[in-house]
Amino acid sequence: MKGAIFFSTKHGSTAQYANWIGEATGFPVFDVNDAKADPSKYDFLILGSALIFYRLTIRKWVKANLADLEGRSKILFSVSGAGAGSKLNQWVAASLPESLLSKMNHVALRGRMNPAKLSWVLRQIMKIGALLNPNRKASKEEREGFDYVDKSSIEPILKLIEEFQLSEVST
Ligand SMILES: Cc1cc2nc3c(=O)[nH]c(=O)nc-3n(C[C@H](O)[C@H](O)[C@H](O)COP(=O)(O)O)c2cc1C
Repeated sequence: MKGAIFFSTKHGSTAQYANWIGEATGFPVFDVNDAKADPSKYDFLILGSALIFYRLTIRKWVKANLADLEGRSKILFSVSGAGAGSKLNQWVAASLPESLLSKMNHVALRGRMNPAKLSWVLRQIMKIGALLNPNRKASKEEREGFDYVDKSSIEPILKLIEEFQLSEVST
């Protein structure tokens, strides 16, 4: 089984998770902005994407490569501020074609956000978002930042990969 990881990141945490999964599995890791990121060369794909402004950043690449992803993609991991739940599922569903998503396992990972590293414009947008957010904890995080990046949270992904590999051997 030839597996590979394809990721899209804005601020680095999705890349960090993708590299950890790559180290643990030996699968090559590609940034989707890299011209060498060709999913047609692999038969087991793990897609990883940052979630920015309610959408997965990988969505345009997915659209452009849909024919090669159908039938190959197995696991999607999203990296967001919000944790797993219906809100996140809605944003993911609005980002990817149902035909692809329905055949994938989705694992929600949490990322990091450091306001000091954002552009001035993005910082102002986050401040306004914080003012409008009725959830006090989420509002504080939008204002002050957060860091949930944790290597152990890739364990469910490694388990799924192992299960797929075992099912390949037994069929
Ligand atoms: C401008 C901006 C917008 C964001 N929008 C959302 C959002 O809509 N929902 C969410 O759960 N997290 C949101 N986040 C948090 C990101 O998902 C989090 O920072 C994640 O780690 C980004 O992944 P990356 O580091 O790979 O770019 C946002 C972060 C930034 C900086």
